[in-house]
Amino acid sequence: MKSGFGVFFAVVIALGGSWVGLVVGPTLQLGTAKQTTVLVSGDLWPQQRTGEATLGMQVYRANGCAACHTEQMRQDGVSFDVVLTSPGKTPAVATAVSNVLATLKLNDLDKEEADAAAGKITDLGGKVETHLSATGTDIKRGWGVRHSVAADYLYDAPVQLGNLRAGPDLANVGGRLADANWHLNHLYAPGIVSGSRMPSFKFLFEVRKAGAKPSADALLNLPKEFAPADGYEVVPKPEAKELVAYLLSLRADVPLYEAPFTPVTTAKP
Ligand code: HEC
Repeated sequence: MKSGFGVFFAVVIALGGSWVGLVVGPTLQLGTAKQTTVLVSGDLWPQQRTGEATLGMQVYRANGCAACHTEQMRQDGVSFDVVLTSPGKTPAVATAVSNVLATLKLNDLDKEEADAAAGKITDLGGKVETHLSATGTDIKRGWGVRHSVAADYLYDAPVQLGNLRAGPDLANVGGRLADANWHLNHLYAPGIVSGSRMPSFKFLFEVRKAGAKPSADALLNLPKEFAPADGYEVVPKPEAKELVAYLLSLRADVPLYEAPFTPVTTAKP
């Protein structure tokens, strides 16, 4: 075989090339990823999950939740809102500012429009803040406040990205549905959400005879049609509690360098 060396060489290039592209490249890019810092607060992100939540991730895997749920928020872009923080020191300035405010568009702006609007107000003597928010369909659906970034998955092994959305994205489910009891009820009886097509995970619970007093962690507020027969109670098995601890640990709700936004503070003076 005259071309033996050529074939060997082609194979080495093909396999070696893919190895460099699929293994070495990503490792160089992300292999040394470390915790990053949250904008403004300077806290470290992400935090290691608790032991219970780490076990819960395996329950999530074992039950095929990733077949219907993704954990990856997308974002199209950003928009800016100009917010007046002080109308100016004198009544004359305040009137001028409120006159110009009436003529300006202050929400859903791009950076240049926001700078121009802010400039007009500050020129008169008013004070403003420019707030940044992420935009996109996932965000509009209320699933989260920013897109997912590599750092979010630092402690996930294997990462449960998912690729099909029969149900909502769960990347920030701990941030928007923070009630453990709601999750337990929902896993036992997804029908509590009207029209839900999620299958019940009843086998993560035990239905047993109730004593004189219900057990401490029995599900007590199940709607009638899902409640057990009289004299019985539904108690989560450890797997159910671990799974819920994992769901509550799923958060993508802090601003990072690669995914900035202005956190909404509800604090009123
Ligand atoms: C066959 C597809 C399917 C599977 C498998 C599935 N889900 Fe769901 N899930 C859905 C659908 C559809 C919804 C929306 C309706 C609802 O809230 O029940 C949903 C909703 C949810 C919600 C509420 C999210 C929200 O924003 O309202 C959570 C939490 C959830 N699922 C967790 C899980 C977990 C944990 C598992 C694995 C134990 C799982 N799901 C398996 C289809 C599925």
